[in-house]
Amino acid sequence: MGAVTAAVSGRESALVSPPLTLYVHLPWCVRKCPYCDFNSHEPRGRVPERAYLDALLVDLHGALPALAGRPFATVYFGGGTPSLFSPGAIGSLLDGLRRAGVLLPDAEITLEANPGTADEDHFRGYRDAGVNRLSLGIQSFQDDALRALGRIHDADDARRATRLAAELFDNFNLDLMYGLPGQTVTAAAADIGEAVAFGPTHLSCYQLTLEPNTVFASFPPELPAEPAQSAIERRVHDALAAADYRHYEVSAHAKPGRECRHNRHYWEFADYLGIGAGAHSKLTGDDTICREARVRRPGGYMRRVGDGHHLAEVRNLDPVDLLAEFMMNALRLRHGFPLALLSERTGLTASSIHEPLERAATRGLLELHDDRVRPTPLGRRYLNQLITQFLAE
Ligand SMILES: C[S@@+](CC[C@H](N)C(=O)[O-])C[C@H]1O[C@@H](n2cnc3c(N)ncnc32)[C@H](O)[C@@H]1O
Ligand code: SF4
Repeated sequence: MGAVTAAVSGRESALVSPPLTLYVHLPWCVRKCPYCDFNSHEPRGRVPERAYLDALLVDLHGALPALAGRPFATVYFGGGTPSLFSPGAIGSLLDGLRRAGVLLPDAEITLEANPGTADEDHFRGYRDAGVNRLSLGIQSFQDDALRALGRIHDADDARRATRLAAELFDNFNLDLMYGLPGQTVTAAAADIGEAVAFGPTHLSCYQLTLEPNTVFASFPPELPAEPAQSAIERRVHDALAAADYRHYEVSAHAKPGRECRHNRHYWEFADYLGIGAGAHSKLTGDDTICREARVRRPGGYMRRVGDGHHLAEVRNLDPVDLLAEFMMNALRLRHGFPLALLSERTGLTASSIHEPLERAATRGLLELHDDRVRPTPLGRRYLNQLITQFLAE
């Protein structure tokens, strides 16, 4: 057993019940993008909206008793392409939560939308149903980049959808990708400039990665080489900082006070119930922290939810898992975390991780100041190496 494993062999402080959030997975897309490894599928024919909604409601009501009335602080409709669902379906789910008395009145409620499936009636309907934050998968405002990414929309669709989002939602996010096939620094800067001009409260900017089991993994496009990739990333981050977006997490940039509360809860290791095909949950009980995963294929999920066999995995996390998972999330935050949060969320004390903490600090990957652990610029750059310090050998 390695030093880290030994160091966290037991939990020493009481678990505190953390905030609770709800993730709802809507697993269909008009067409699968060649870079995407999310649990998303092209439907055979029409999306089975009614049957899936029924399954979600059964899933939700089956899960609620174990949560003993704890309310949801945030709800996130993610995908796949949630904007393929009607406002009525989204509203039914939110009504179900309200009727059960488990939705906080000021809950942040986000829905992901694809510009290729965006129209005014849908956006208005989502807003009227209670969605108060829209997240648009823009990726780029340039036709050649969108074509190279196999997107179903062009740059004008992206502009139209963003204009609509800005008109109807005072809180909205744009997803952009950079490091795209053939992309120059100038082109990446133009995307950021155009995005910022629409006034989103939040921008998620991801460097394109080639994920296993995707079309791009089998047929890799030619991506900008180093040092162009680093130059693009620097320009993206500088342009966002100049426009007063705070870079608070690896890929997330927000206007002051407009950080995504839902994602922040993940990174701070709060609890989440995930319903829908392939959704994951992490739930704190009196003395255990449990992880669940639902059946991944939409058809199998819908068939099995009725007889209660829709969980593909249920596992209590041991102290080694807890430390690894806590660090994988919390170290993504630019300002790190207070040590007290580690104890509250995992039951591990600061002294039990003294050894890896010291080692990471000695290597210049993090700093410990006023009982707060914060990744250094070097630690942010080599985040995987920093996280590795806390994994069992
Ligand atoms: C579930 S999708 C968001 C909404 C919607 N499905 C869409 O694509 O319009 C989440 C985001 O992850 C990013 N993403 C997905 N695959 C990626 C990859 N291989 N590399 C970088 N970013 C990726 C994209 O920016 C995408 O918008
Ligand atoms: S639309 Fe979004 S979820 Fe669907 S395949 Fe494309 S990136 Fe993945």
